Amino acid sequence: MTRTAPRPLIPPEPEISDFSNAEFRRVADYAQREFGLVLQENKKQVVQSRITRLLQEFQCRDIASFCSRLESGDFQAEREAFVTALTTNVTSFFREAHHFDIFAENLLKPSLSGLRSGQRLRVWSAGCSAGQEPYSVAMRILDLLPDAAKLNIRILATDIDPAIIAKARAAVYPAEEARGIPPAFRKSFITTRAAGCFSPDPCVTGLIRFAELNLVGDWPMRGPFDAIFCRNVAIYFDKPTQARLWSRFAALLRPGGLLFIGHSERISGPAMNHLVSAGITTYRRSKDIKG
Ligand SMILES: C[S@@+](CC[C@H](N)C(=O)[O-])C[C@H]1O[C@@H](n2cnc3c(N)ncnc32)[C@H](O)[C@@H]1O
Repeated sequence: MTRTAPRPLIPPEPEISDFSNAEFRRVADYAQREFGLVLQENKKQVVQSRITRLLQEFQCRDIASFCSRLESGDFQAEREAFVTALTTNVTSFFREAHHFDIFAENLLKPSLSGLRSGQRLRVWSAGCSAGQEPYSVAMRILDLLPDAAKLNIRILATDIDPAIIAKARAAVYPAEEARGIPPAFRKSFITTRAAGCFSPDPCVTGLIRFAELNLVGDWPMRGPFDAIFCRNVAIYFDKPTQARLWSRFAALLRPGGLLFIGHSERISGPAMNHLVSAGITTYRRSKDIKG
């Protein structure tokens, strides 16, 4: 059951003294256990200032009572705000552009005739932030397959942060962000809106289904996926969580499917036996495991 703490008439002033080491550990342990997020000691100041804002927002007297709410599992709003406060949503259209070239050249182009006659294509953008990554994938697909909406082609885009998923669904971006989109795609796939904003066209948004999903929790989908983009997300996780994540991706990819990861991330652990390098921070699932 989700509860909201009763709001007192005169809210107490939160105690904004420095986090003790024990308080920092309590916050960090919760972030790691629930979301796989690693909060380094040297980020203590940043974490403290973000959590202090949450204490004010939720009218919590001190960090101990905020942690108690989180740990009880009953306070969904606090949990969501905690994730939003501690994750980084930095992203852009066609970020690490070589991935979209590899996706088009190695995966789409060899399958064009099959895809035109109903072959299935499933792509997962895992940790999609405000949607720029899956919309970039969709534009690449539409460039080669203008009728993609009528074909068996779907993109799943997930993120742990409900606020950012709402933004992704809304799909309204400041005009400056269009600079990352290749000019031909700008012409074909986006529409300028009032007040210096633009949106991807319905043919782009229509290919994508957005959902909230914690990569460290259970996953409802069974796959197989032809491509998974999980870029600049695992970098926030500890090593064992990263290794587990790579193995779970390998199991959900079809043999020959591609995994794209962030520029400062590396595949580690047992997944290394099943994912072979296929370009810069790109891996192909080998054919030797049962998926
Ligand atoms: C830096 S953004 C990367 C966005 C995009 N993939 C890119 O490379 O541009 C990291 C995203 O990962 C999400 N994230 C962090 N921890 C997560 C978790 N445990 N499960 C799912 N998403 C998570 C954050 O909410 C954030 O939107």
